[in-house]
Amino acid sequence: MGCGTWAWGNRLLWGYDESMDNQLQAVFNLCVSNVVTLFDTGDSYGTGRLNGRSELLLGRFSQEYQGSGKENICIATKLAAYPWRLTRSSMVSACKASAQRLGKNVDLVQMHWSTANYAPWQEGQLLDGLADLYEQGLVKGVGLSNYGPKRLKRVQQKFAERGVPITTLQVQYSLLSTYPVTQLGIKEVCDELGIRLIAYSPLALGILTGKYSEKGSLPKGIRGLLFRQLLPGIRPLLACLQEIAQSNNKTMSQVAINWCICKGSIPIPGAKTIEQAKDNIGALGWQLNGSEIAELDRAAASTDKKMVQNIFQTK
Ligand SMILES: NC(=O)c1ccc[n+]([C@@H]2O[C@H](COP(=O)([O-])OP(=O)(O)OC[C@H]3O[C@@H](n4cnc5c(N)ncnc54)[C@H](OP(=O)(O)O)[C@@H]3O)[C@@H](O)[C@H]2O)c1
Repeated sequence: MGCGTWAWGNRLLWGYDESMDNQLQAVFNLCVSNVVTLFDTGDSYGTGRLNGRSELLLGRFSQEYQGSGKENICIATKLAAYPWRLTRSSMVSACKASAQRLGKNVDLVQMHWSTANYAPWQEGQLLDGLADLYEQGLVKGVGLSNYGPKRLKRVQQKFAERGVPITTLQVQYSLLSTYPVTQLGIKEVCDELGIRLIAYSPLALGILTGKYSEKGSLPKGIRGLLFRQLLPGIRPLLACLQEIAQSNNKTMSQVAINWCICKGSIPIPGAKTIEQAKDNIGALGWQLNGSEIAELDRAAASTDKKMVQNIFQTK
């Protein structure tokens, strides 16, 4: 199962409505034709009336796509550890439901989060179900999400006993969320176990693009509140990003995404428009140099405010 160096996350959050579907399809087409062929989704993406919408759309987009790279499209979905999912067979059924929405088998199935922080007794069955999916040939690969090194090692051991490899682990990783790597040491553990690290929210929900500012516009809702709190404390980081972007003739988004690639992860930025997707694709095909990476690392380490961690992230 191939994974590129860049992928597209399709969360359908932050202002999504169905009138955006055509532009999302154009984003999808642009990605695949530019060799961005890994698509991350989840069975919980598109809530309420739009339940499962992200998977439905990705299934439709991949079937309708007729350009080059079609054979390399890889759909990675995440199965939620809902409180009512209690048995291993519930995971198998959930994956079959995702496959139905996608119109084909899931390529990479991921456990969306660990229940270790609040219902540790629930997790064993769900993980067994994930491994069952691999054994039954219903998926090509298995991954995890929001796991820290201790839990990851335990699951890896458990899966190894059944001959089931873990292909990927995704965590919130960006210049504003270095915690999983710098504090938990997750990258070393992934390398040791041969697991590819996926960086979700690599633009820190959009704040690292530089388009939001203290005196300018802020996004609506909870993101706006969060950004208002973060912006004063991250001025030096944004200034550093901007300076490096200018000297490379790149945008701040491209630098933020390229930094994730330079750290050995696969970033999955969300893009809502063709312009954003084109911009993000420009993060490929070049590399920040060592001193630029060190400068960004220093700026990231010295910010007094960081992105809030996902409550499900385990140690
Ligand atoms: N495993 C998990 O628990 C988990 C959790 C979160 C996310 N994820 C995955 O990671 C993916 C991406 O994360 P995310 O959407 O949370 O955060 P992100 O990629 O850091 O930020 C995406 C947002 O930034 C803005 N943006 C993106 N590219 C831009 C550009 N070039 N210029 C200007 N603005 C740009 C867009 O929002 P605006 O235009 O509204 O500013 C976009 O929705 C998700 O789709 C999902 O697949 C996984």
